Amino acid sequence: MVAATSSSPLACPTSFKQRALRGAVADPLRSSSQRSLGGRHQIRTIVGEGGTRHKLNTGAEIPALGIGTWRDADKQEQTVLTALKAGYRHIDTARIYGTEPAVASAIEASGVPRSSIFLTTKLWNNSHAPSDVEPALDASLQDLRTPYVDLYLMHWPSPLQSGPSLRPTDARGAMIPGAADYVDTWRAMEALLRTGKARAIGVSNLAESELRRLLRAARVAPAVHQLELHPWLQQRRFVTLHRRLGIHVTQYSPFGNANPAYAAATEELSPGERLIEDPVLVEIGRKYGKSGAQVALAWGIRQGRSVIPKSVSPERVRHNLEGDFELAEEDLRRIDGLDRALRFNDPSARFRWNYYADLEGKRY
Ligand SMILES: NC(=O)c1ccc[n+]([C@@H]2O[C@H](COP(=O)([O-])OP(=O)(O)OC[C@H]3O[C@@H](n4cnc5c(N)ncnc54)[C@H](OP(=O)(O)O)[C@@H]3O)[C@@H](O)[C@H]2O)c1
Repeated sequence: MVAATSSSPLACPTSFKQRALRGAVADPLRSSSQRSLGGRHQIRTIVGEGGTRHKLNTGAEIPALGIGTWRDADKQEQTVLTALKAGYRHIDTARIYGTEPAVASAIEASGVPRSSIFLTTKLWNNSHAPSDVEPALDASLQDLRTPYVDLYLMHWPSPLQSGPSLRPTDARGAMIPGAADYVDTWRAMEALLRTGKARAIGVSNLAESELRRLLRAARVAPAVHQLELHPWLQQRRFVTLHRRLGIHVTQYSPFGNANPAYAAATEELSPGERLIEDPVLVEIGRKYGKSGAQVALAWGIRQGRSVIPKSVSPERVRHNLEGDFELAEEDLRRIDGLDRALRFNDPSARFRWNYYADLEGKRY
């Protein structure tokens, strides 16, 4: 692998480490706030054969381009196999997607060694009670047929009622919230690092106030925050905070409203308008012989983040892998101008939790 390490203000730093067992991060916010906010950070990105990789605060490397597996569960075994054969080495799954067994079968069929794959799964909301956390990971590991995951994320900060049902509902069909505090859930996740079953832990879908509260109680800072991020929802201030804290950002829904689950039009969009057809992305792509979709991926990767596009089409799986390419600074800055604070994933009403309360694009 050709390893090129450079420095850039856009790179992910290692402000504080995911120190699993070597003592506490007593007050990560205080320690990070002692750092210069405007300072340039050492880039921790490696570009080479097999694609760009970023360094996490654990010291591990995360491939910048992964395959998402939410939706179309019956097609995911073939899709993940196609992805692994094409060269993907980062897979994103979750308990709630129902795709862990398919991911396991694809890995086994691919012949790619487990140690070459960065595998993420997520703790579902019905397992937030601290005593449920390790059994929930065990169940995922059993379905994934692996002794460890590279990253275990708390999927949402919001608990649902503990129990076997992933979607506990009352007589009126409304979700039943749980009693666990996500900070206590996080503390239980910290203990997983000691078992070796999760090599890193992280969060997903936290508001800024929720992240700050978690960090005040944490002994271990999240290695990763997985959140909705794309050129129409750039959340620059929030992203900068993560850079300061050394928390890697993984962009989900990197194609914005391409996911059919987001079909409900927002009043800001014209009928049929799609991020990947944004004229600026398409025009920039022409310079490089790339599509708008590929430019959207490169925009995230080149700024030190990872992206996890989902596709069940073999052609698009391969096409998306070519979204890891160099973009000129002037093109990155042009894409900055596309921000519309347009958030597509906000299930606040369904899960009875006010998500993203202090973030851009808050809708419901
Ligand atoms: N942490 C969380 O709460 C959370 C939330 C959402 C998503 N995620 C993760 O992030 C992954 C990606 O997000 P996402 O699935 O919402 O959205 P996405 O990857 O931005 O978009 C997926 C959609 O785009 C289509 N597509 C893929 N490549 C394309 C291309 N090159 N040209 C045109 N269309 C293309 C796919 O259709 P086809 O499949 O038909 O190709 C699919 O409908 C998920 O699969 C999941 O792993 C996590």
